[in-house]
Amino acid sequence: MNRIYFDNGATSFPKAPGVGEAVLDAINNVGGSVNRGLSKESMKSEYVIYETREMLCELFNFSHPDNVIFTKNVTESINLILKSFLKSGDHVIVSSIEHNAVMRPLHILEGQGVEVTTIPVTVEGDLSLSTLEASIRDNTKLILMTHASNVTGTVMPIESIGQIAKKHDIRYVVDGAQTAGHRPIDMTKIDCDALCFTGHKGLLGPQGIGGFLITKEFAKALSTYIEGGTGSKSDSVEQPSYMPDKFESGTPNVPGIYGLNAALHYIKKASVESIHSKEEELVDYFLAELKRKEIIKFIGASHAECRSNVISIDFIGYDNAIISSELIHQYNISNRCGMHCAPMAHKTFGTYPQGTVRFSVSHFNTKEEINFVITAIEKVLEAY
Ligand SMILES: Cc1ncc(COP(=O)(O)O)c(C=O)c1O
Repeated sequence: MNRIYFDNGATSFPKAPGVGEAVLDAINNVGGSVNRGLSKESMKSEYVIYETREMLCELFNFSHPDNVIFTKNVTESINLILKSFLKSGDHVIVSSIEHNAVMRPLHILEGQGVEVTTIPVTVEGDLSLSTLEASIRDNTKLILMTHASNVTGTVMPIESIGQIAKKHDIRYVVDGAQTAGHRPIDMTKIDCDALCFTGHKGLLGPQGIGGFLITKEFAKALSTYIEGGTGSKSDSVEQPSYMPDKFESGTPNVPGIYGLNAALHYIKKASVESIHSKEEELVDYFLAELKRKEIIKFIGASHAECRSNVISIDFIGYDNAIISSELIHQYNISNRCGMHCAPMAHKTFGTYPQGTVRFSVSHFNTKEEINFVITAIEKVLEAY
């Protein structure tokens, strides 16, 4: 039985055509270290890296390629920003559906005197903008918001939050882990100070490459996070203050960037708008099929337009872990069960501690695959 892949919220599969070849090309043919040699191979890799920064700018409507910083993933990007910016006595606002990539570093920072306010989100995924605005204090330095929940797929009102942040002169960071590559993102419209992304989910690239795009003003307000060799100003022990070197120490993940570059070329050609409308159609179809089944409680918004590519189900009266495992082992359907690294979101949605079974589509999926999943769910429940 062929594998049917519905775990794109964890990591996308398949990757964009050409990604594997590009990674291999970097390993087999580049050799030279970027910014640290004059060979034509080193120069070529510098070109590919710069082009990747430019393509990310084009995708997210941002105009400063030097302010595109590469990290391992969105987790590292968020850690870097939070820990380089927030100090004891500062206050930060987040939603109640954030991933542990946000909540764990904040938990550490709370122990160091940073104050954290969590704005509740309803089961339908609504966040009250007036509650958020009312929670702003004199010492509020940052608002950090996920663009879409990785548990329910609910899309947050990130543009309205951006307006509130600007009005109060508070820095604003968006976690684009679940939306980058899945739907158009316009940094200018959101008016955020930084957008964090990960290469291996909707961007259809390899694992181990991610980053963030950051405004010049916000970049200046951050201290360095990891200091070391940059291949520039090598006669000095001082970390360069210019971008991107300020935040990019050590040899970068060149194969990862080559893979991401190929993925971005694919997304550009396919168009993120088309990818989004195909995924929206699939999610709507999936939701409509599920709605007919009364024993299933799917959580979050009921229409695909308020959702990303994620559908989470609580099989009431059943053990979600058993259902998930049966679907994987008997029907070869990749899905994910449990907390999805977001325990606070499950407390918000009333699915703690049982968690949910999550299906997350990509535009490579088909309605036939969804039909297969629905039939498999019915059979697993019958045999339970
Ligand atoms: C909303 C959200 N933020 C952050 C992350 C962390 O992503 P990564 O593991 O690529 O750093 C995820 C991953 O599932 C996520 O869904």
